[in-house]
Amino acid sequence: MPDTQPQGLPTIRTIAMPADTNPAGDIFGGWLMSQMDLAAGSVAALTARGRSATIAVEGMKFHRPVKVGDEVSLYAEIVSIGRTSMRINVEAWRRQRDSETTQKVTEATFTFVALDDEGGARPVIDQG
Ligand SMILES: CC(C)(COP(=O)(O)OP(=O)(O)OC[C@H]1O[C@@H](n2cnc3c(N)ncnc32)[C@H](O)[C@@H]1OP(=O)(O)O)[C@@H](O)C(=O)NCCC(=O)NCCS
Repeated sequence: MPDTQPQGLPTIRTIAMPADTNPAGDIFGGWLMSQMDLAAGSVAALTARGRSATIAVEGMKFHRPVKVGDEVSLYAEIVSIGRTSMRINVEAWRRQRDSETTQKVTEATFTFVALDDEGGARPVIDQG
């Protein structure tokens, strides 16, 4: 059964380039994780209306490889908001550049903490 692609616009859409490969020539998992962190960070900053930082990543799963030239779309959405933290689910989907078929490649739940000017945790102000 195919995965269901999230509705709406992705938070980030990018192209996997040769510079992002591992020594075997496939896309490096760390590159994909950084894209996911960027997407979650964008949602966190908007939700917290300011600075925030990753404190944890749970359930990171690599379902399928990403190939050079793939269009990679990152979908990030808030799952829950705590006092100072935000849990954000992120899915990455690939589309081979010459095909309309899309596949989910990774997913994880990122926890971000809203930060004050000194880098300490501060309450999240959800202005929804
Ligand atoms: C973010 C930071 C300031 C928080 O410090 P802290 O005040 O000691 O954090 P706390 O223990 O009070 O936890 C803050 C929130 O994170 C949550 N949290 C803490 N550890 C967690 C974990 N392992 N998983 C999920 N949530 C966690 C807490 O439950 C709390 O949430 P809440 O206020 O909504 O209830 C500090 O951990 C830090 O600077 N970390 C480094 C962040 C960073 O540099 N990230 C980039 C990595 S390269």
